[in-house]
Amino acid sequence: MSLTGRTFSVNMSAKGRPEVLVLAIETSCDETSAAVLRAPDGAKPGTRTGGTGPRAPAREPASSNEAPEILSNIVLSQDEVHAPYGGVVPELASRQHIKTITAIVGEALTRAGVGHDEIGLYAVTQGPGLIGSLLVGLSFAKGLAYYHKKPLIGIDHLEAHLEACFLEHPAIAFPVLGLLVSGGHTALYLMEEPLSYRLLGKTRDDAAGEALDKIAKFLGLGYPGGPVIEKLGEGGDPRSFPFAVPRTKDRSLDFSFSGLKTAALKLIRENGIIKDSPRLPGFLASFEEIVARTLVDHVRAAADQAQPRSLVLCGGVARNTRLRARFREFARQAGLDAYIPSPKLCTDNAAMVGAVALKRFARSPEMETDLDLDAFAR
Ligand code: KG4
Ligand code: ZN
Repeated sequence: MSLTGRTFSVNMSAKGRPEVLVLAIETSCDETSAAVLRAPDGAKPGTRTGGTGPRAPAREPASSNEAPEILSNIVLSQDEVHAPYGGVVPELASRQHIKTITAIVGEALTRAGVGHDEIGLYAVTQGPGLIGSLLVGLSFAKGLAYYHKKPLIGIDHLEAHLEACFLEHPAIAFPVLGLLVSGGHTALYLMEEPLSYRLLGKTRDDAAGEALDKIAKFLGLGYPGGPVIEKLGEGGDPRSFPFAVPRTKDRSLDFSFSGLKTAALKLIRENGIIKDSPRLPGFLASFEEIVARTLVDHVRAAADQAQPRSLVLCGGVARNTRLRARFREFARQAGLDAYIPSPKLCTDNAAMVGAVALKRFARSPEMETDLDLDAFAR
């Protein structure tokens, strides 16, 4: 079923310009999130006139120098639900999204101080992610868009992570080399212009966050593993355990973290590392250091090949202090500008979904709203 042909309306600001507010929803994994963003001034799409008459032509495309305003960005983590299992349990994740989504969307509107009548556009993460979780957000967003007769845009989760950086730094110079490191993905992209992504390399096995989560789980440290490893490794000497940066045999920019994970498990057994052992901080700091160095090594190789003007680091693992520092160090040496979103915008959140939606909508306000939008896992 499609909304095409129905009447859409976009609210007009006092200056007579369309004022687009987007309500974005993100439920791809274990965070239920909703956000309201206002399109930047001067980056407004063509007005959709009421009725069935011809639509006004699109205005200038969104200026890359302006960022939308985040009016609210509510994130409810399910960490407590999944912690006892040491990882996300997909069935529990979708059930939890169902329980909380109405309240989270309501809270996003309340904090933004707006009602559905002021929302001009709905956006939702379509994938990749856990199908059951994605379907909760997708179905909810379809219901809202259909009922309120507003356009709905399906957004790629990885694109949203990359876009998070532009929310705080809208004028990043292209071409941009982006490293995305999350619990499910580790990949390098070249963005030659806004909203264009060329995959340069990705992980052949575990994602970086997944490797951190698995080692934390093995040691019984809790979930999610990244922040726990960071906290317990504080003060540990990152040179105390001998890890080597893994290399792929070909000259590809693909990552592989399974070898590092196996090396870590071997060191844990050989050295009798357990939750309370005095060598734990040194071990965790060493593991975190090798993960950060491996990631930055790939950025170095990709930068040599692609010659970007700027570097961007994003995804949940980008919250990591050591990785942020190594990334900035490399950028300084290479003479490149480096951008990393503030921590809240690194992990899953709906503001980054709304940001992509506003850019896409500004480019093609005539886009069809398809209620058949389907979730995709990968
Ligand atoms: O982007 P994200 O919220 O969800 C996915 O799309 O996967 O990333 C979650 C990942 C988890 O693996 C978690 O352990 C990791 O981000 N993470 C961190 C930190 N905070 C979250 N890893 C290292 N250091 C952190 N401070
Ligand atoms: Zn994510």
